[in-house]
Amino acid sequence: MTITQENFKQKAAFAALDYIKDGMVVGLGTGSTVAYLLDALSDKKMDIIGVTTSKDTSKKCRALGIRVVDIDTVDHIDVTVDGADEVDSYMNGIKGGGAALLMEKIVAKNSNTNIWIVDESKVHSVLGTFPLPVEIIPYGSGKLFQKFEDKGYQPVLRVDNYNNPIVTDTGHHIVDLHLNYIDNPQELADYLERQVGVVEHGLFLNIADVVIVGGEQIKINTRR
Ligand code: A5P
Repeated sequence: MTITQENFKQKAAFAALDYIKDGMVVGLGTGSTVAYLLDALSDKKMDIIGVTTSKDTSKKCRALGIRVVDIDTVDHIDVTVDGADEVDSYMNGIKGGGAALLMEKIVAKNSNTNIWIVDESKVHSVLGTFPLPVEIIPYGSGKLFQKFEDKGYQPVLRVDNYNNPIVTDTGHHIVDLHLNYIDNPQELADYLERQVGVVEHGLFLNIADVVIVGGEQIKINTRR
């Protein structure tokens, strides 16, 4: 990650502040781009109620003094701001590079508005350059893995530094599918959702309402 990319992430995060007002219930995504937003919310002493998408974000919020509540204690989430690993021309995306896709999708699907903040390197006309994370149940995962291999998805089990499968915040494993080019994201999402053992996948289709792209200039794309 270059200094310029970090700067573009920060710009995108700062631009998202325009969508957040005191008193709002705000879904807080996961990752390095969202970290800039959390810093800014704390610096500005904004009076928000946060709903987090990972243990990591909860920890960061605690350290920064941002109030966090359980998702089931709020009756709505006004706006969620999250990062993404890849975004296409239709404002669809791949998420889960940080293994938080399940909680991120639950928070997103329960939010009135979803805003993604990305640096310009994440924007591609077609999804698939970034390996697609799929969150799976550990039991029988070898069978699922084989199925993905037979489909030509080039699955790779995500492991930690000790070569153990990583365990998500909700107790699952992650398989990354190396697809290179996803010509029909909806078809793939439907297929993955039909597979027993798949908990959730990282295709976030028709979810983002606003995508803020940080570059030399800020670009804001809105779903019509
Ligand atoms: C977490 O699982 C992901 O969905 C993140 O939102 C995504 O990886 C973006 O992270 P960065 O902002 O660190 O690139």
